[in-house]
Formats: sequence, C-alpha cells, structure tokens
Amino acid sequence: MLQAIQETAAYLRSRMQTSPETAIILGTGLGSLVGDIAEKHEIKYEDIPHFPVSTVEGHSGKLIFGKLGGKDILAMQGRFHYYEGYSMQEVTFPVRVMRELGIKTLFVSNASGATNPDYNIGDLMIIVDHINYFPEHPLHGKNIPYGPRFPDMSEAYDKELIRHADAIAAEQHIKVQHGVYLGTQGPTFETPAEYRLFRLFGADAVGMSTVPEVIVARHCGIRVFGVSVVTDLGVEGKIVEISHEDVQRAADEAQPRMTTIMRELIRRFN
Ligand code: HPA
Repeated sequence: MLQAIQETAAYLRSRMQTSPETAIILGTGLGSLVGDIAEKHEIKYEDIPHFPVSTVEGHSGKLIFGKLGGKDILAMQGRFHYYEGYSMQEVTFPVRVMRELGIKTLFVSNASGATNPDYNIGDLMIIVDHINYFPEHPLHGKNIPYGPRFPDMSEAYDKELIRHADAIAAEQHIKVQHGVYLGTQGPTFETPAEYRLFRLFGADAVGMSTVPEVIVARHCGIRVFGVSVVTDLGVEGKIVEISHEDVQRAADEAQPRMTTIMRELIRRFN
C-alpha cells in the first residue's frame, strides 16, 4: 500500500507545476466550486496510477490543480464512496497521496440529511465533530506509519479554521449551523426510525461520506475543515420521499455560499 501511495505521488509530482498545501474534496452537487479555480490543470482519475475510478452521477472524477483565493490548491472533483464497493483503503487512498504531496490542510464538503429539528433545507452546517457509523474502520489493519496506531480524535475539525469561517460567514451574511455529522454506509437514505436513532446518538446531520477521509487525514496530521449542505430533513413530521436528484438540486442552490466560505478561508488563513 505504501508503495502504491508513493508511486501515485511520484506520478503526480511529475505532472504538477505547483506545490499546493491545501486540498479540497468536493461532495455531491458541489463540483461547481471548480468554476472558481483559476489556472486549472486537470488530471483524470483514470490516468493516475493506482487511483480508483469514480462511478456516481454528479462526480466527474478528476484532480484539479490551480488557484483558489489566490493560493495553490489541489481539488478532488469526485470522491470514492464505500457504497460503490470500494474498500476503505481505496476510499481514503487519495488522502494519503495528498499527505505524500505535502498537503497540510484539507477542506471537505458533502450533502446531508438533517436530524436536528432546527435545521432547514439549504442550511450550511460547519462540521464541528463526527460520528463514525461505517461498518469498517478506515484505519483497520496494519498501521501505516504516517501516524500513530491509536490516533487522537479530540479535535478532528480544526477549531481555528471554524472560528475564521464563522467570522467570514458573519461578514458575508451567510447563515451557518454548527453540528455533528454522522457518516453511514448508504446507499439507502434513512428510514424514519434510523433518523430518530441517529438524532439520539447526537447527530445533527447524516450522510454517506467524509468521515473516512477525515479520519485518515487526521492520522496523517492534516488539518481539516468541513461543511455539510443540508439537502433534506430527517426530522419527524418533515420526512418526505427523496432522490439523489433532489439532493443535487438542493446542494446546487447552496453551492455559492459554501464556495464563498471555502475560498475566503483559503485566501485569508491558509
Ligand atoms: N441521508 C444520508 N445521506 C444523505 C442524505 C440523507 O438524508 N442526504 C444527502 N445525503
């Protein structure tokens, strides 16, 4: 595994003209942040040695090098989901490659269903903590010597970046929530009983991604900032039938606000 990570990193290094220290993983329907990236240089996942290939609609599958907020960045357009059949090692492979490339800060985004009754569709939730509800742990198996066997998770989401994001949101009149994201395997959306259970667990929103990548990033010593877009409500009395298209539509609407926060955060504090 370590050898594959290093080979992938060596290939990317040979094609990179910049040395970004910031990476972004774009979630469902949030890929249009790409439109804000300047001086783009794209590499398709299928051209990258050892890289899994993304299959879900709404994820087009490429690495993008360029500038956002005036800084060099590396963006992943399309992530790998556990429900697609990838192993956790595959889901998190790009994060380890990022570490090898010198990435210091990772920005993640996703779409989620709110279990917090105070949330509305379209709300941006700054992720302040998470619950790992995947059936397999991303660090299961032999420890990769990027970090300790038993990594600390007391501050998975960087408090300083959250504080700066709050200041940007206030200044730009963007409403943000602070909440706990629960990551589960999917691909089913939750039953009402499952939403209720996740609320009892302490989740404010639930989705099918992010947690594995964040765990691996923290294991590698990468700082993390995450935003979740509430695309549907898993709250008793407000639950309606939903589809992937509904999720994408709601995410599309929230996209410009999320992009503003991410871009300004990168410009000012990264
Ligand atoms: N549940 C799980 N994943 C999701 C949801 C949801 O309600 N909405 C968007 N992704």
